[in-house]
Amino acid sequence: MDALEAMRTRRSIAKLRNAPVPRELIEQALAVAVWAPNHKHTEPWRFFVFSGDSRQKLADAFAENYKLDHPDASAEELAGPGHKTANRVLAAPVTIVVTSDVGRSEMETLENYAATAVATEHILLAAHALGLGAYWRTGEGVYTAPRNAVKELLNVPESAQIVAFLLIGYPDTEAKAGQRIPYIEKTQWFE
Ligand SMILES: Cc1cc2nc3c(=O)[nH]c(=O)nc-3n(C[C@H](O)[C@H](O)[C@H](O)COP(=O)(O)O)c2cc1C
Repeated sequence: MDALEAMRTRRSIAKLRNAPVPRELIEQALAVAVWAPNHKHTEPWRFFVFSGDSRQKLADAFAENYKLDHPDASAEELAGPGHKTANRVLAAPVTIVVTSDVGRSEMETLENYAATAVATEHILLAAHALGLGAYWRTGEGVYTAPRNAVKELLNVPESAQIVAFLLIGYPDTEAKAGQRIPYIEKTQWFE
């Protein structure tokens, strides 16, 4: 698969097979992630790979974040919506949490986030090219928790930004047809 085809055909894959992913494939994806462009060579990305039993710790941290965000949540809510992200982590063979370092200025922090987002897309494209399915998720607990249990688990500073948690495995479903507004409607040419 060439780069253009990979970019055109990559889709988020929600349903993953309950089958282990060889560590070598994840290593291949991470090895290309670090070639993302990054201003001032800050290389601000960090990757935290969870598989096997370690997924439970990550799932617990997401459940804890929900509690922190919803101190008044009922037991029902904690077991339902409060456990949604945790369940997703437990259902995926691999989750990579991607974080971005804070910069020495606001601008550098912004650019670090941009660079890490590109590195994240490299992982998604590599996963696709390697026959894996992946899903970039953020959502509940990533941005809003006053104390972030996931960051505590990763042992990253509170200032670090969680850019993605990438659920990865072999696809258990056909990718949904994507939909995009044609580039022509988003582009102005100055010639
Ligand atoms: C920064 C970012 C955060 C995202 N967070 C979520 C999320 O929390 N939940 C979710 O279902 N999808 C999330 N997505 C994935 C998008 O929903 C998905 O890329 C979009 O629907 C387009 O589908 P495609 O990836 O198949 O082209 C996120 C994507 C990005 C770039």
